[in-house]
Amino acid sequence: MKINKICCIGAGYVGGPTMAVIAKKNPNLKVTIVDINEERIAAWNDSDVSKLPIYEPGLAEIVAETRGKNLFFSTEIDKAIDESEMIFISVNTPTKTYGKGKGMAADLKYVELCARNIAKVATTDKIVVEKSTLPVRTAQAIKSILSNTGSGVNFDILSNPEFLAEGTAVQDLLNPDRVLIGGDSEEAIDRLANIYGSWVPQDKILRTNVWSSELSKLTANAFLAQRVSSINAISELCEHTEADVNEVAKAIGMDSRIGSKFLQASIGFGGSCFQKDILNLVYIARSYGLHEVADYWEQVIILNDHQKRRFSDHLIKTLYNTVSGKKIAMLGWAFKKDTNDTRESAAIFVADHLLNEQAEIAVYDPKVSKDKIQSDLNYLNTRSPEENQQLLQSKNSPYEALDDAHAVAIMTEWDEFKTYDWEKIYKQMKKPAFIFDGRNILDKAEMNKIGFEYYSIGK
Ligand code: NAI
Repeated sequence: MKINKICCIGAGYVGGPTMAVIAKKNPNLKVTIVDINEERIAAWNDSDVSKLPIYEPGLAEIVAETRGKNLFFSTEIDKAIDESEMIFISVNTPTKTYGKGKGMAADLKYVELCARNIAKVATTDKIVVEKSTLPVRTAQAIKSILSNTGSGVNFDILSNPEFLAEGTAVQDLLNPDRVLIGGDSEEAIDRLANIYGSWVPQDKILRTNVWSSELSKLTANAFLAQRVSSINAISELCEHTEADVNEVAKAIGMDSRIGSKFLQASIGFGGSCFQKDILNLVYIARSYGLHEVADYWEQVIILNDHQKRRFSDHLIKTLYNTVSGKKIAMLGWAFKKDTNDTRESAAIFVADHLLNEQAEIAVYDPKVSKDKIQSDLNYLNTRSPEENQQLLQSKNSPYEALDDAHAVAIMTEWDEFKTYDWEKIYKQMKKPAFIFDGRNILDKAEMNKIGFEYYSIGK
């Protein structure tokens, strides 16, 4: 079977950029991305590529180059399944919010729906690729759904987890550290490896069994998040001693056994993946009765929650134990720079806590829409949407958000925040003017010289 047409179910942060890069690097392959969300597909098809639903540096250019040639966005899921030889499943796998495993296990209902849809529609042999991050042994479940259709169609299941990081997705896809393919059909693995082989050297394409592949993705995210929690734990100790967490991070990072990446102390990690994948790992370990393993990884989440909480506690304490009626400006709402994704962003947690203390919040983020900010807050259900709207306002410019504020909290490390006119901002703010730098992006000496009371993490 030669692969001429592929499709991807799920036009999200992974499906969109991954398929766009595959299409760019394989001009002879027809790539169709489908989704049940009509609004999202319409945005992917918008003639103005600055309106794509996902912001990633370099993505709009690739979509502009390939869309309508060999890259297509559509809501016609059945048609795309029917005509494709290879189908990627890249739908969301959030933490379960109900029933057994609530708050811990991955909710596989969207993946299962995709498998059932493929089973219903397929009339020719297919290679089904798990791109979503899935718990170990999910391929087994997909296989069981697909092999019981009685249609005589043969399905090969591969696990091909995605390691891109939001904010650098295009670069990560163009130059991956490795591509991981798990499966038991060498032939199916070869076909997928050939698609990546258009631009990824073969020695970077790793072949494993399906379960090692599934577990490697959860483990990679657990290790990355663990480094963040490790340096954040040290940051709290630094604040009680005369140590500086940046100096400690530099000193340990120069040890080649440790390495310098992912040692930036901060307000804590966010994003849709780290927390859900670790909770899932913890759930799987517990379900095998491995309580020490589960407790070990759970601590990464406990520390992260603590880091977010102590940031807002410290802000309130410093503002003379009350923020009631005070204007707090928040710079950044996205969970990290260079993305418009806000899932699990520390900003949401901190805003909610400050609103409980009756603060008035003004937010500015260069890429996150006003509606998104309100809906993130409303999703928590802490207070009515009307109250949220009244207490938290999004502004079109940073200077508007900062005008007359008692304090500014830096929540995202957007580069532009470093280049603002901080002298002008100081003049605009109430005195004493406080900065709580949750990302350690500003220079303390410089801010103190202007007149700010400046607090950062781990110093
Ligand atoms: P997302 O939420 O941005 O996109 C998922 C899309 O799937 C949505 O647009 C949704 O409408 C669509 N969908 C859900 N059920 C569907 C169905 N039955 N038929 C058609 N479309 C359906 O999610 P994202 O961030 O792209 O994540 C997808 C998977 O990739 C998750 O398992 C995630 O853990 C994993 N992942 C995410 C990374 C990230 O940085 N966001 C990185 C690596 C893996």
